Amino acid sequence: MRIAITGGRGQLGCALHERNQGNELLLVDLPEHDITSLSAMVSLLQQFSPDVIIHTAAMTDVDGCEKTPDIAYKVNVVGTRNIVSAALLIGCPVVYISTDYVFDGTKSQPYWEYDDPNPLCVYARTKWMGEQLVRQHLARHYIVRIAWLYGAGPRNFAQTVLRLARERGTMTMVTDEKGSPTFANDVADALYTLITLPAYGIHHLPNSGICSRYEWANKILELAGISKATVNPGSDYQRLARVPKSVELGNYMSANLGIVMRPWQEALSEYLHRG
Ligand SMILES: NC(=O)c1ccc[n+]([C@@H]2O[C@H](COP(=O)([O-])OP(=O)(O)OC[C@H]3O[C@@H](n4cnc5c(N)ncnc54)[C@H](OP(=O)(O)O)[C@@H]3O)[C@@H](O)[C@H]2O)c1
Repeated sequence: MRIAITGGRGQLGCALHERNQGNELLLVDLPEHDITSLSAMVSLLQQFSPDVIIHTAAMTDVDGCEKTPDIAYKVNVVGTRNIVSAALLIGCPVVYISTDYVFDGTKSQPYWEYDDPNPLCVYARTKWMGEQLVRQHLARHYIVRIAWLYGAGPRNFAQTVLRLARERGTMTMVTDEKGSPTFANDVADALYTLITLPAYGIHHLPNSGICSRYEWANKILELAGISKATVNPGSDYQRLARVPKSVELGNYMSANLGIVMRPWQEALSEYLHRG
């Protein structure tokens, strides 16, 4: 297949590159390619003529989106509109990567694909608006919601915990924010299966199970064999964005197709022990 991947240098983009088996990929990312330019996207994507576009590019700094909502809107909403427009002209489906943060976290049970979103912050609102654009304009779309992502590069929670352990030997993590740590490689593998199937609509594909950031940090240290560092429950910084307290994304739609995500602890262990 010919696959265009926006955000090709991000965590998920790198995983899609790493886990690719024989597809022809076009990586679309800054600084060469800016999804906020309609003409640039249409001409680039029309020229490549992909069988599918996997749209991962986004402004993912949740507090940053709160500080500069105009930029968040431009990248996450206008950028998505541009990808949708190009896909319409080409006639190809789009995989839109979305987030557990579209939910408000007040449900004590898992959120299913058919539950109603209620985003609480700018980032989540822009991602939800992106979902709606994709759904309204493209009959052939996959909206794939994932959660606390980690993968290639130093900009993720696991790498931050390892750095704090190394540099300070202690850290403080909240106990009242819960989600599903999700290995980008697992999402990439699931996406490569999903796009071979005409199973359009919403899919929930985080690793299974939830934990607090405090529990996640402790598990990272345990699996990495670091016994000297300590994690204290609490919070040492004030978040700008309002984020849901607890979201577990229930996988109903993909599980029906045999796409089941492994427990987050197993995936984390593989991530920490790979060479
Ligand atoms: N990270 C998470 O915890 C998480 C959780 C749930 C859902 N998601 C969703 O999953 C997707 C992938 O997340 P990720 O963690 O892989 O993101 P990421 O590492 O931040 O990567 C996003 C990529 O998009 C690029 N990008 C930003 N603005 C762009 C623009 N105008 N034109 C072209 N490329 C642009 C970024 O470039 P720069 O680095 O130069 O800005 C970056 O390479 C996102 O859609 C996100 O909303 C993420």
